[in-house]
Amino acid sequence: MKAISATKEQVEKDIIKISKIFKKQFPDSKEKISRDFYRANGKYGSLLDKFYGSFKNAIAEVFKEERGKSREDIDIKKISSSYKKRYLVSAIVPGQKVNEVFMQSIELYCKKEKAELILLVMRGIKKDDVFSKDVYDKYSKYFHTELTFNSNLKAMDFLLLPQQIISLTGLDRIARSNSVIVAHTKQEHVTIPVRITEYPHIMWSTGVVTYPNYGDDRIGKIAMQDHTCGGLIVEVVDNKIYHVRNFQADKNGYFAVFNKWYRKDKITNIKVNIVMGDIHCGAEDPIAISQSKQLIKELDCKYIYFNDLFDGRSVNHHEDFNIYAQYTRPVHQQTLEDELNYLGNFLQDFTKGIEDRTFIVVPSNHNDFVSRWLAEGKFVFGSPKNAKLGAELFTHYLDGEDPIEYYLKSRNFIKNIKIHFATRNEELKSFEHTIIHGDKGVGAGKGSAKSFDKCYDKNISAHGHSPKRFRSSSVVGINCDPNQPYIAGTGSGWMATDGLSYENGTDSLINKIKGSYKL
Ligand SMILES: [Fe+2]
Ligand SMILES: [Fe+2]
Repeated sequence: MKAISATKEQVEKDIIKISKIFKKQFPDSKEKISRDFYRANGKYGSLLDKFYGSFKNAIAEVFKEERGKSREDIDIKKISSSYKKRYLVSAIVPGQKVNEVFMQSIELYCKKEKAELILLVMRGIKKDDVFSKDVYDKYSKYFHTELTFNSNLKAMDFLLLPQQIISLTGLDRIARSNSVIVAHTKQEHVTIPVRITEYPHIMWSTGVVTYPNYGDDRIGKIAMQDHTCGGLIVEVVDNKIYHVRNFQADKNGYFAVFNKWYRKDKITNIKVNIVMGDIHCGAEDPIAISQSKQLIKELDCKYIYFNDLFDGRSVNHHEDFNIYAQYTRPVHQQTLEDELNYLGNFLQDFTKGIEDRTFIVVPSNHNDFVSRWLAEGKFVFGSPKNAKLGAELFTHYLDGEDPIEYYLKSRNFIKNIKIHFATRNEELKSFEHTIIHGDKGVGAGKGSAKSFDKCYDKNISAHGHSPKRFRSSSVVGINCDPNQPYIAGTGSGWMATDGLSYENGTDSLINKIKGSYKL
């Protein structure tokens, strides 16, 4: 039998010719041509190894012009030296379809808000996934792999797999010296504790602009459920200070930032409610509180959720056997009456100018200090200064009333305020989000974002004092002084952070840094 001979050029031409026939017969195939098809229909199957080493190499070389770019071909690292600058940061997965409406909404935001668009390039679901020519030509101008925003914030590349179940697993050590943004298909947020006197470091994963398309296996199905089209607004104030706010695309590909809804080619207002970080009135932070009030006015929030509204230090059972702690209580927390009067005045002051809104007191452990103190009969022998008020509250408490609500009503503090003291089993819903304080877990367990995610689907909780986002659970921070005596000497991730719940089912955490939440 005569050996087949041909030049490499002839082999290449034959592969291209047979590939066209293959494409006609199998138009839905992702491959240019299959090995078996070429061997059955091509002239030079036996010469492929000689010229290319393997069939796979032959295809890669013959179609290299048409082969799109993969993550390995892209390496764009940048150090920004521009301050007072806004960015919109998201991520993109090679080989996946772009959510075009979301991209148009993003480009609209960037134009209106003068933001630079950064798309962090991820690796593909499969190692050799590439960007199609169309996607590359259209969006590569936004591509980056790493970016240093300022000395405290970096976007770093970890080449995470898009189908990885929890995006920030094991990465928190990386954020020990600065906050870090990581490209991923989920949107998570963790706070890394530092000294109490410093702002904690935060790690965010971005969310993406591409649709999910995972395998049919366990990991693929979980990845599908948690996939988030979303991003982060990053505002760099100077070399040290920055603001980051997260957003997600809704089912139409639109998204909300503050009270604006970016909808492909138009911007409208959107309804938004605020879940305030723990207030601990009596130990509240006046600067953080005034920022929340500014947010409420600016975004026109109609429903305001209060977590740990009352500090309750005057009857705090944790201090029962600590004379020093009792002795050093501030003047307005010396007696329960002083502290409740302080709360009444706080509410009157806070609601001034926003009396038309509805305020909801989320049942919380610190509010419950009063009921606990009554239930244990401590008002009888605890302190004579609290005995008379305790006896009065006790009868109302036995009748099923909330003792704090009763006191504020009976002393005319909340006469003109639409305030609702919710009960423990009451379902509190803000649009698609369940609102809970977070001190009670699932069953008899401890509360955590992870357990709430299983139980409530989309939800916003508080209590932990360190802001967080895990799957569809967000946790707000505080509006009180972070330097509390009971955490003296520990590391802390506490941060002044409120949560926003939007009409379109999306949410955002708003961190308040040095008396400001935006550029
Ligand atoms: Fe709290
Ligand atoms: Fe709490």
